Amino acid sequence: MRLIIGLVLLLAGIGGLLAINSPMPMGGMGMMGQGNMKEMMKRMMGGQLPPGIDTANLPDPHSQGALLLARYCTQCHDLPPPALHTSGEWPKVFARMNRRMKMMSQMGSILRPTDQEQAIILNYLRRQAADSTE
Ligand code: HEC
Repeated sequence: MRLIIGLVLLLAGIGGLLAINSPMPMGGMGMMGQGNMKEMMKRMMGGQLPPGIDTANLPDPHSQGALLLARYCTQCHDLPPPALHTSGEWPKVFARMNRRMKMMSQMGSILRPTDQEQAIILNYLRRQAADSTE
């Protein structure tokens, strides 16, 4: 009996240590997959997240911009349609998302676009924006 209690205490101790050593107080974000990230975002951010569309419904779906948008901008929420904002609005929204990706990539769970990829995505969003004439 003593042995079992001892074992339980030992396991609790190891669990506690792991929680303390993990980089985030939330505990092991690095171990979370993308699915979990999206779930967490939905719970925390609910109504603020953009309405999602299918990759196939993106304008010019095989362009580099569309592919990069689908790769990077679906990590926390569904794929945002470029027509959600005007070309004047996108740089501000993009900068906010970019700051987030930068911050969260340092925690290890989110991929962040390179400077060149950022330019391609923003260019694509602005070209396909709500006020786009294309
Ligand atoms: C690290 C997580 C994360 C990534 C990656 C991310 N977003 Fe977001 N996004 C959020 C959160 C959280 C919100 C809700 C709060 C807000 O609007 O700032 C949001 C909201 C939005 C909204 C709705 C709000 C608005 O202003 O219209 C749009 C559009 C959007 N994101 C576009 C993008 C685009 C484009 C990308 C890729 C360049 C992207 N997001 C990548 C976390 C992320």
